[in-house]
Amino acid sequence: MKRLVYSLMAGVLMSACAGSKMPEDKYDIRVDELLQRMTLEEKIGQMNQLSALESLDAMSEEIRQGRVGSIFNETDPHRINTLQRVAREETRLGIPLLMARDVIHGFRTIAPIPLGQAASFDLEAVEAAARVAAIEASSAGIRWTFSPMIDIARDARWGRIAEGYGEDTYLTSMMGAAVVRGYQTDNLADPTAIAACAKHFAGYGASEGGRDYNSANIPIRQLHDVYLPPFEAAAKAGAATFMTSFNDIDGIPSTANGYLMRSLLHEEWGSDAMVVTDWSSATEMLAHGNCRDTLDVALQTINAGVDMDMVSNAYIRYLPKLMKDGVIPEILINEAVRRILKLKFDLGLFDNPYVDESKLQAYTPEALSATLRIATESAVLLKNDNSLLPLGKEVKSVALIGPLADDTYEQFGTWAFDGEPEHTITPLKAMLSVDGVKVIHDKALTHCRDLKGDGIRQAVQRAKSADVIVCVVGEEAIMSGEAHCLADINLYGKQKELVAELSKTGKPLVTVIMAGRPLTIADEVEKSDALLYMFHPGTMGGQALVDLLFGKAVPSGKLPVTFPRMVGQIPIYYNHKNTGRPAEGNELLINQTPVRAAQTALGCHSYWLDAGYGPLFPFGYGLSYTTFAYSDLKLDKDRMKLENDSIEVSFTLTNTGNVEATEICQLYVRDLVGSVSRPVKELKGFRRVTLKAGESQRVSMKIFVENLQFCGLDYYTYQEPGEFRLWVGCNSDDNRNEATFYVD
Ligand code: NOJ
Repeated sequence: MKRLVYSLMAGVLMSACAGSKMPEDKYDIRVDELLQRMTLEEKIGQMNQLSALESLDAMSEEIRQGRVGSIFNETDPHRINTLQRVAREETRLGIPLLMARDVIHGFRTIAPIPLGQAASFDLEAVEAAARVAAIEASSAGIRWTFSPMIDIARDARWGRIAEGYGEDTYLTSMMGAAVVRGYQTDNLADPTAIAACAKHFAGYGASEGGRDYNSANIPIRQLHDVYLPPFEAAAKAGAATFMTSFNDIDGIPSTANGYLMRSLLHEEWGSDAMVVTDWSSATEMLAHGNCRDTLDVALQTINAGVDMDMVSNAYIRYLPKLMKDGVIPEILINEAVRRILKLKFDLGLFDNPYVDESKLQAYTPEALSATLRIATESAVLLKNDNSLLPLGKEVKSVALIGPLADDTYEQFGTWAFDGEPEHTITPLKAMLSVDGVKVIHDKALTHCRDLKGDGIRQAVQRAKSADVIVCVVGEEAIMSGEAHCLADINLYGKQKELVAELSKTGKPLVTVIMAGRPLTIADEVEKSDALLYMFHPGTMGGQALVDLLFGKAVPSGKLPVTFPRMVGQIPIYYNHKNTGRPAEGNELLINQTPVRAAQTALGCHSYWLDAGYGPLFPFGYGLSYTTFAYSDLKLDKDRMKLENDSIEVSFTLTNTGNVEATEICQLYVRDLVGSVSRPVKELKGFRRVTLKAGESQRVSMKIFVENLQFCGLDYYTYQEPGEFRLWVGCNSDDNRNEATFYVD
């Protein structure tokens, strides 16, 4: 049983107790020696992070003055070496700099946005994509990235849903840990390793109304059961750094939340990760209204256990005064500087902070093939009537229509600062090299937000002459990501009209959507014969798409997030509570309700009169070019002890179709009765299984009793005894194969 300090206030109070005990480390002696030689100003300088300035001279001067521990947004290896040389050779103690950058889903070679990567459910491929990013970024001298973002997001309006791994706690935990491994390897001193940063700690994904930077109102139990486990998993995977989030939870902005940093991260999870603020999130506490002035900002931030201040200057300006006036003890500063120095030692920067400027790594065959793999696995097939896909040999001409059919930039999605569009493979580029297929390309709209639609008529006319229409629509990169939230998540501009007009041609219509979030696409699903969803797929996206369209690859992706029918259903997620009056599925909709029906004629169930109850597509949904059957579900036993026990679940998976393909088998559990109400289902395991046509395989997965823990009535996290239901299947709504087990 694990004790939870359930009051956020408790952490704030604890923070006054001058910090946590640091675990022993091989660099302790060197860090101690260095700390003893440092002046207070030099220490505080290490705690300051600058965003790169244009002038090298100005940055060099700051470094010489001992006012900088880290710089981010500098990507030129020559300039990075110059700055490191100033730090090493022109400062009293020669402490190297931590050079950082937002390398979120690739440096030069851009992988799909994280939300897309999550759709692969492929931890190996996700780790490989992170490795590619690390190799490329480190070759430019960058040794710290602000990724992975492991905020649980249940609101598609929130632009930053693109940057995370979706709505599920278990999947996000697994993905985050894989990304940490990919960046850091098991040895940070490897020159190709970069330090990961688990962000945004914590609760940022719950920004109210899906509006960025907004308050997150998260009940304590939900915070512990849903939002925090991915951070604990990242800590356990060895994430070297954490970043505080912009939001407040119940009035406490994360940057002042000692409970998160001190009680949880350092004490309970035993991590020694260095904590950085988000961009000026320290001084933004003035706007939040929990700090009186910048002195108070610095005080609350250091008390909470934040080691480095990103760009706000609160530390560099006010920590000296707080020390001089005896408001804070030096031990608080030492604790932070110790973590910063230790990270620099761990990264091997004291031995060699420089990078070989002649060995920039980008677009190697290995990088491109890892990126193609994850792009292919990230696509989710949502509809495929009459097995339209894959396109067969009889298809001699394709009309490739739409604003994203040949846009080298937009398919990167958000946070691709260093991606180079000239290396992008667009759908058009890839399709032009398919033998025996004539491509009729027409953009139809100038861009996704084209409100005029002047080109639609001509595009539709041209499309009529093709055997098949492939229409690529969605969102420009700018439409999702930080600060890019939407209240309406329909296809924007004239894109809806474009799909509608193309469908009227009577030609087989494949709609491809490239976007940074789930969009409300009920109309497009209805009007298309086939629909492939690609969360912005990056550099190799066009190749991945064409491989899938023509059957060189088979779709395997599954949705990492629930797709609402209408925006008003949000928040809608599969692992919700049952409520006291769950819908039964037979509820009347508003257009089925007789005029002047009696008030109680519709029953009193939890659903929407206009949208019904369920989503458009549930979490975990995705089709293939084959079909899979699950059978013969067995448990090796049906009772588990409360501690250190597990059950092995096995079943037979059969590929019942005609092509080799991969199925993502999912295992869900429901705790039927708890001291507090429990979700209707929770993902507890998944496996990617590849089978030839007609092949069967016995698949097994384990459920560990520890994975069933939750924050109970008394705010302790533990396992309660009781009866559990278990399902294996192809998505969160697949209830065909179920079993029961007990925890005693
Ligand atoms: C603000 C964003 O919230 C964060 O994710 C990012 O890493 C920093 N800016 C640095 O660019």
